[in-house]
Amino acid sequence: MVGMDRPFRSLTRRACLGSGLALAACDRAARGQPPARPAALPPLKAVAPFPVGSSVATDQIADPGFAALFAANFSQLTPEWEMKMERVLKPDGGFDFAAADRIAGFAAATGARLHGHTLIWYAQDEAPAFRRIDGSPGFENAYRNYILAVAGRYRGRAVGWDVVNEAVAEDGEGYRDCLWSRNLGPDYVAKAFGYAREADPGAVLFLNDYNLENLPKKRATFLRLAERLLAQGAPLGGLGSQTHLSMDTPPGAVRAAVADLARLGLPIHISELDVSTRSDRPSLMSPADRLERQARLVGEAAEALAALPAGQRYAFTAWGVRDKDSWLIRPPRGNPGEDHPLLFDDAGRPKPAAAAFAAAVRNRR
Ligand code: XIL
Repeated sequence: MVGMDRPFRSLTRRACLGSGLALAACDRAARGQPPARPAALPPLKAVAPFPVGSSVATDQIADPGFAALFAANFSQLTPEWEMKMERVLKPDGGFDFAAADRIAGFAAATGARLHGHTLIWYAQDEAPAFRRIDGSPGFENAYRNYILAVAGRYRGRAVGWDVVNEAVAEDGEGYRDCLWSRNLGPDYVAKAFGYAREADPGAVLFLNDYNLENLPKKRATFLRLAERLLAQGAPLGGLGSQTHLSMDTPPGAVRAAVADLARLGLPIHISELDVSTRSDRPSLMSPADRLERQARLVGEAAEALAALPAGQRYAFTAWGVRDKDSWLIRPPRGNPGEDHPLLFDDAGRPKPAAAAFAAAVRNRR
């Protein structure tokens, strides 16, 4: 939307700070009233009763503004891309961990927990080193060696791993077809968990997926897969719900999904939260309406995690720190200024969503 960005910036600049002031400020702005005097928002990691994470990429840690904002507010990080197969596995079968090591070093330097992402993913099954052994007897050994090499490198440094990402079909009818399932059958999932445990005896091992809040059938299949892994004795240690939300996410859907996922008793990771403010719904065209809806959804997600028993609150991870860091405003998904999906604006100022997060978790420590 041309020109939409300015109203967002001015709204963020002048309003929406302070516990519980966020939504009131947005309401006021929506009614054209001047915002209340913003109160200081404490660092998010200081008020949350669980680790507060963000995705981090190497180009972001080179930006001093990003690094300072991350260090002040976040206590966990997930490499956005640098530990993925397409980045670490070279065509000749060798490894390039340079970028991943930089991210791990940034975690150590900022005192943040490191969450590894992701060992096995249907969307990363084009690696030449695997494609050329597709269907060969040595495939499983190469699969094991890959997981041992990557998870083993961060043994004792990664607190957890997304071992298998997005295994479930979008319609909930079984599992996605991929190089891994074609060579190893559906047990590629359990095998990955076994090899990850062999690589790192201490990491919490996650099954991670998305659209679990708006596709109940997919969530049911995801939970059945989790139950089957547990029944097989696979070292499944947690469930990750990416939580990529939109203006159309119905109120209550996130809360219901988190409660449903938590019924297996495993730690829950809200693992990639963002709330796209793009909407072609006329009723949601005003920036204030969108920021308010975003804040309500972020507050609901934070509240849902905080409502779990302490042992099930693994972490709340946003998929980026500032709006401009989001994958949603990079081609092919979008362009700068077209979306405002995160908790901090482009200048690093807390948005209503940040205040709603703080209000939702305050007094839950
Ligand atoms: C995305 C990254 O943010 C992009 O930079 C990259 O180009 C593609 O992958 N679910 C996931 C993440 O599990 O790994 C994806 O991250 C976003 C969707």
